[in-house]
Amino acid sequence: MGERIGVVIGRGKETDQLEIVVAFQEREKSPKLGEFLVVEETEFMRRKLLARVEEFSYGDFQATKDERIRALVEKYVREITGVGRELSEEEKKALFFRHYILKVLGEIELEGSKIKTDYRVLPELTSLCRYPNDNELKIITSAGLEDVRHTIPIGHLSMGEEVRETDVIFDLDKFKNRRTAIFARTGYGKSNLCKLVVSLASLTGVGLLIFDMEGEYVFGDPSKKTIGLADIPGIKENLVVYTNRGYDASQYSDLWIQPLINLELLEPSEIASLFPEAKGEEAKAITHFRGLFTLPEEFIDSVRKFRESSSGKERSELLEQAARSITPQRKTQGQGVKVDESQVGVLKRNLRWIFPLDDAGASNIVTDAIWHLARGRTVVVDLSLLPLEIANSLSNMILEGIFKRNVENITRQKLIVVSQVNLPPTIKLMFHPFSQVN
Ligand SMILES: Nc1ncnc2c1ncn2[C@@H]1O[C@H](COP(=O)(O)OP(=O)(O)OP(=O)(O)O)[C@@H](O)[C@H]1O
Ligand SMILES: [Mg+2]
Repeated sequence: MGERIGVVIGRGKETDQLEIVVAFQEREKSPKLGEFLVVEETEFMRRKLLARVEEFSYGDFQATKDERIRALVEKYVREITGVGRELSEEEKKALFFRHYILKVLGEIELEGSKIKTDYRVLPELTSLCRYPNDNELKIITSAGLEDVRHTIPIGHLSMGEEVRETDVIFDLDKFKNRRTAIFARTGYGKSNLCKLVVSLASLTGVGLLIFDMEGEYVFGDPSKKTIGLADIPGIKENLVVYTNRGYDASQYSDLWIQPLINLELLEPSEIASLFPEAKGEEAKAITHFRGLFTLPEEFIDSVRKFRESSSGKERSELLEQAARSITPQRKTQGQGVKVDESQVGVLKRNLRWIFPLDDAGASNIVTDAIWHLARGRTVVVDLSLLPLEIANSLSNMILEGIFKRNVENITRQKLIVVSQVNLPPTIKLMFHPFSQVN
């Protein structure tokens, strides 16, 4: 049994919060914010509740009116100071302590090496608070493990700057078969953790699709001493990167780097799904475009000429040509059919976003990515240089494409999707193994 560092005096505002006090005499043992503590019952139920320090403040005995708290604190202080008698008024005046609010996370079950998150009964008021012992720490840092076959250490337990010996264990199968989310404040290492887990998953030969919002997965940042997936032997050979960044690929000769979008090769519905205004009220023209079976020749012609052109005026004319070629037509009195002029502008505005992203060297990103994923490769789609709406819709387009083609063993068993993009719920439902990092 560990050394006592405080005593439970009541409940906090929330049902899962406990209030404890630590005597002034024991201040050097005071827990830090965020620290794990065990609240151990000494009399009847003998549970070991796992709790974390959420808040702290000062308290003094004189200002405490509640008789029950006074009695508990006095008993506790008498025990730790070895005073057998009642405390004198002078001693009580000098009694200061620290208040802590703990959040109860669950109950430690030593037999099953588990944390049971169910917490329905308040702890006995005589419970003692102490730090977890080594064995308990091990259970805490491997909480949620179900199958010990694919466990991986992902780092050490750390409290602020202080790094402890205890390994933190993660279950790779959970990453594969469930949805995982990583939450933390900005700059607290979410991407780094995800990169680590992804790199370990990648080595198992599972198809991995990563939507990289920050352009941080493939290459490390030497100034921050971080490495990327392309620096890891065993992964880089298996890595496929779609990006519109001008990477100097000569350094990475064995790396598969490809541009993102080739408009010629996409279906009208796919291009339409990339339009930033696709969901706006002017969507009539976009709906029409989405319904087209193939891209009109004139559209493809303007795409090709746009690639060659550097003149702003010419490019604008080409956008106009492309927009007209896909604008719905309407019958006019006596003059046959004409394009609906009011819709040309809508399409042109949308194409203005999409055309500059086109690259003749790109394959069809949807079918190409599927091909690689089916071979168990790690596919990174670098969205970092795209406008946010387009980054969002491109990832949806790829996921929808995969789902539509219904490659059973890709969508159901062998694919992990890692995304920082806020994907719509329908997409999340389609993909069972889905990880989100924000
Ligand atoms: N376990 C770690 N140990 C030491 N340094 C780390 C660790 N994890 C991340 N870092 C460093 O902290 C910084 C931020 O990490 P990271 O980019 O992973 O955070 P983030 O939570 O993804 O941030 P953001 O919310 O901005 O995306 C990086 O410079 C990284 O090198
Ligand atoms: Mg991040």
